[in-house]
Amino acid sequence: MNTITAAITAVGAYVPEFVLSNQVLETMIDTNDEWITTRTGIKERRILKEKGAGTSFLAIKAAQNLIEKSGIDPKEIDLVLLATATPDMPVASTGVFVATQIGAVNAFAYDLQAACSSFLYGMSTAAAYIQSGRYKKVLLIGADKMSSIIDYTDRATCIIFGDGAGAVLFEPNHEGLGVQDEILRSDGIGREYLKIDAGGSILPASKETVENGLHTVFQDGKTVFKYAVSGMADVSEKIMQRNNLTHDDVNWLIAHQANKRIIDATADRMGLDENKVLVNIHRYGNTTSGTLPLLLSDYEDKLKKGDNLIFASFGGGFTWGSIYLKWAYDKQR
Ligand code: UT7
Repeated sequence: MNTITAAITAVGAYVPEFVLSNQVLETMIDTNDEWITTRTGIKERRILKEKGAGTSFLAIKAAQNLIEKSGIDPKEIDLVLLATATPDMPVASTGVFVATQIGAVNAFAYDLQAACSSFLYGMSTAAAYIQSGRYKKVLLIGADKMSSIIDYTDRATCIIFGDGAGAVLFEPNHEGLGVQDEILRSDGIGREYLKIDAGGSILPASKETVENGLHTVFQDGKTVFKYAVSGMADVSEKIMQRNNLTHDDVNWLIAHQANKRIIDATADRMGLDENKVLVNIHRYGNTTSGTLPLLLSDYEDKLKKGDNLIFASFGGGFTWGSIYLKWAYDKQR
């Protein structure tokens, strides 16, 4: 086959050591393990505690893990894409710093922001660079230090999010493996329902914005939930139909880990058995850009060459979508 497809050929991940359990949250806010577990599926999440360490810390560790596992020479990487909603700082691209730190000295790099769909959109971007024949090795990292933008007195948000990162390498494939199709969507109606009001160009940081707590995430959970359930299920079902995939043909659903109930609703619509649904929300909560690559890393042993994977995500903006990918390798490269 002469056509170039974009395959994932290596995976890496990193989560911080510190575990914030539901039991500890019970001592911080008015909540309980039973509520969190039944409403979200989350039992614990990881928090980056190292002083002065930002999202780049997580991204570098995940990329280094990939480099060690795969044995690739970082000098061969052409592009480092960092999917993140929590860059180290507003200006000075975090991805550029990460690329330099991991020794990708011949790469260019930049950040990509689409809230919880950052990694999924990044997969599309990475794949396009590979399919065009322009680049041979694109490192896509999804990393977020969500704890840096969460108010730990707000029980509506602080129970959900955690810190973490994952990385994948995209390379050309000539056997038809890798990305097969995508449906990516967005709708600005979502802006009011999941946001940080201050610190941007509309409302720059000031004494008042700090005093009014406007630098942390606000979420109207119920509304986002409603859109997420229909959005993620719609695109996942559509991508199956358009590629003539039955539920038997799909090996794995790799869905954004925001709420177990949203994942279940998507799997139901696709007609998938629960043993085909990758889940780690109970361990990490919602790590935003980290969820999809962390799933790949946790379940890498189970993925077989030729398996049909459906990725799906939904996030702030709103942003959402689905990607159909054929897995390209068995664990040992
Ligand atoms: O990743 C980006 C996209 N984000 C998402 O997909 C998140 C979508 N939303 C959700 O996952 C859910 O809406 C949440 C998990 C955020 C909330 O679950 P919910 O079932 O929608 O709960 P709710 O906000 O409707 O609140 C139900 C009740 C309320 O009490 P009343 O008014 O019924 O008396 C809340 O005050 O639960 C209360 N509540 C809590 N109780 C214990 C809200 N948060 C908590 C809490 N612990 N942490």
